[in-house]
Amino acid sequence: MKSTAQNIPPKESSRLLPRHLGIIMDGNGRWAQKRGLPRSMGHRAGAANFKKMIRYCNSIGIECLTMYAFSTENWKRPEDEVGALMVLFKQYLKDAIKEFLKENVQVRFIGDTSVFSQGLRELIRKNEEIGRSKTGMILNIAMNYGGRLELVRATRMLAQKVKDQELSPGEITEEMLSAHLYTAGQPDVDLIIRPSGEHRISNFLLWQSAYAEYIVMDILWPDFTPEDLEHALDEYANRNRRFGGV
Ligand code: FPP
Repeated sequence: MKSTAQNIPPKESSRLLPRHLGIIMDGNGRWAQKRGLPRSMGHRAGAANFKKMIRYCNSIGIECLTMYAFSTENWKRPEDEVGALMVLFKQYLKDAIKEFLKENVQVRFIGDTSVFSQGLRELIRKNEEIGRSKTGMILNIAMNYGGRLELVRATRMLAQKVKDQELSPGEITEEMLSAHLYTAGQPDVDLIIRPSGEHRISNFLLWQSAYAEYIVMDILWPDFTPEDLEHALDEYANRNRRFGGV
């Protein structure tokens, strides 16, 4: 039986969990291709899995989860694929409102969401509003997100503070830069999982992943199950993180 967030019991153990987990949801297109389906069907299957994995991550006590849904580079895809993704985001976020009302998840969106249609921006706003009254896992949905864009944005904010004489260039610290990222106040990402076998960071959480562990798995995102996540979490727990020390 294929496992779901409902039927796989969360592991009871004292193993070390990542405080902040990042997932690059890759492989939707190939999943669809393998079945002779249009790529948009792969994204649809990916969205269903996204929902399942959020619930599972919250149930096992992940503090922050960042899911890469749409990058600043994904606009280069064929117009019909981008269009289908936008429709899917809208449909999903409409449902998510009901879902997030039930779940104790603080949903946030990271990336430049100002470029999306008014309808989509309104759904983003509503979901974030619900998230603000919650106390559970922080869920960052990265949409029109790029690590480089995020760093440029933070640099601009700091430059403005220097211009306004609130700050001198020599006073700028790493902590200050972190505090100007979309993920301000959240721990750095501890573990990034990339399903689909690709060994690339793809402009994801560039600053926050300076000392992240990275696990690539040869499974396409729509097929990625809570058991696969458990394997990655076990591997993470056994890694020896030295943060540049010995
Ligand atoms: C990468 O796979 C996936 C994307 C660019 C889209 C990810 C979006 C979802 C999973 C939808 C869920 C998100 C929300 C917010 C509902 P790919 O298309 O590059 O796969 P390929 O490498 O096999 O072609």
